[in-house]
Amino acid sequence: MFERVPSAPPDPILGLSAAFAADDRSHKISLGVGEYRDASGKTPVLDVVRAAEARLLAAGSSKTYLPIDGTPAYGRLVRELVFGQDRADSADTVTVQTPGGTGALRVAADFIANHFPDARIWLPDPTWANHPKIFEAARVPCLSYRYYNSEAKGLDAPGMLEALQQTEKGDVVLLHACCHNPSGVDLDADTWQAAGKLLADRGALALVDFAYQGFGDGLEQDAAGLRLFCEQVPEMFVATSYSKNFGLYQDRVGALTVVTGSADRAETVLSQLKICVRTSFSNPPAHGSALVTCILSDEGLRADWLAELTQMRERINGMRQTLVEGLQRHGASQDFSFITRQKGMFSFSGLDPKQVERLREEHAVYIVGSGRINVAGVTPDNVDALCRAVVSVL
Ligand code: LMR
Repeated sequence: MFERVPSAPPDPILGLSAAFAADDRSHKISLGVGEYRDASGKTPVLDVVRAAEARLLAAGSSKTYLPIDGTPAYGRLVRELVFGQDRADSADTVTVQTPGGTGALRVAADFIANHFPDARIWLPDPTWANHPKIFEAARVPCLSYRYYNSEAKGLDAPGMLEALQQTEKGDVVLLHACCHNPSGVDLDADTWQAAGKLLADRGALALVDFAYQGFGDGLEQDAAGLRLFCEQVPEMFVATSYSKNFGLYQDRVGALTVVTGSADRAETVLSQLKICVRTSFSNPPAHGSALVTCILSDEGLRADWLAELTQMRERINGMRQTLVEGLQRHGASQDFSFITRQKGMFSFSGLDPKQVERLREEHAVYIVGSGRINVAGVTPDNVDALCRAVVSVL
């Protein structure tokens, strides 16, 4: 049987990590996968996570199964971070804990396939390389809408709103809450509002991917657009990931939250989400969500977390500036100042696939094929080599 199975290409993002690991050039630079690195190039375990881990260990809890939808305390904290205190207890909103943000997207995709069989999902162009694959895997047809203006290196708001006029009643539209992956270009408040009104008028449902809260302008600031949007629409999905903002990449901690419009519907929707979870991964892993719950429920730990999150954000923003200055110093003739306007971990450099390949082959610099650079991997030690390499392939 297996003779007939064709081989699949490596993943465009995680496949890079494997290729990087196999590269024996000592000067290699990894700017592919979206992982935060500190100034020494390490991806640290946050101090606050270590403190929470010590508390959990001392408490000696057991390792029995979690409920299918995760713990109520975790679900409430997820909703609080997304919507603020006011909506954290809304009876029309339910949360299921998932393995990372990808798990949340897959549960949403399965739910859509099961209950909205005619729905298509609209993805921004560009978007995270895994988005179309997740929905295709669940047999939800994907379409794309204009999002990025490559000449202005900014948001194509008119193009986006015009494209979304083509949505049909019952379609789903994926939006990035902040720190758009891969472009770093976010929706402004007016476009959030206009998109909310448009989707509500057309009867289309939003799925907001919220994987970088706190990496743009701050924890609350990064949720502001989504909260404005939420006032315009009666129902929506939100996929949360805590991989980046808690540095819990390998603990796979995330959630899918659904605003259903009524308490009765919330109960029904939750019952169906549980089916999606049970038939996919049964019930969620506990360690990461226990850490997040411990940190967010304790005033002191929460403050420590916010301080570490701010530090990560500020280091990335500092590196954006250093990168732009370095490119100029090394003789780039283009204006790269747009890099300082982009939000979050990534910069959409504008480098084409041939240039990306040359960076890897000739300079051992690994970035994603779309030209996406993980700015969080740029350090004072590698920035000069990186700038020299980029300028040489321009
Ligand atoms: C990324 O875009 O690099 C991250 O979200 C990690 C991943 O799973 O692709």
